[in-house]
Amino acid sequence: MLRRLSSIQPKEFKFTKDNFKWAKVQLKKYPKGRQASAVIPLLWRAQEQEGWVSKPAIEYIADFLDMPKIRVLEVASFYFMFHLEPVGTKAHIQVCGTTPCMLRGSEDLIGVCKAKISKKEHHLSSDGLLSWEEVECLGGCVNAPIVQIGSDYFEDLNKASFEKLLEDISNNESPTPGSRVGRFSSESSKMTKKLIKKGVSKENASLERFRG
Ligand code: FES
Repeated sequence: MLRRLSSIQPKEFKFTKDNFKWAKVQLKKYPKGRQASAVIPLLWRAQEQEGWVSKPAIEYIADFLDMPKIRVLEVASFYFMFHLEPVGTKAHIQVCGTTPCMLRGSEDLIGVCKAKISKKEHHLSSDGLLSWEEVECLGGCVNAPIVQIGSDYFEDLNKASFEKLLEDISNNESPTPGSRVGRFSSESSKMTKKLIKKGVSKENASLERFRG
């Protein structure tokens, strides 16, 4: 998938005072001369600050880390976790469209995005709150179909639960990440029921341990 810098760019980028302090601390984690290793955390912090990664942010981080600008651009444009275009002020929804998610209904989720957010990816909703894009496998195939919002995964979605998720976000609520069919992790939902029936365990073992 081709990932390019947005045609809309701010004039400049600067870390806030706190983020600047934080970035300086990150540099100390790496041996002298290896400060380029901090490029991913710094790009992520820039995205958390602005919502997306702009060209001025890439240039700022390159200067900060004493790296060629093209190297930082390579990193930012390689990983889907970095948004290269302005995103919704409330949330940018990344819908996985790879085979396992597609077989489990991701096309329905994309249909909801088109109907409720915008017809095209990377376009803001009319109120500017939401945006969306289709991405490649997010590594959570067992709980397909899934979407990523920021650092959170929302799993086992269907059309209705995804519509509800978007509604909650638009209404300023903070939906709990995770499965929408009650799974704790990636255990088989059928297996959980069988174990309960046999009296082996009320729930799956990892969930019991988690709840203490
Ligand atoms: S295919 Fe969607 S998470 Fe892997």
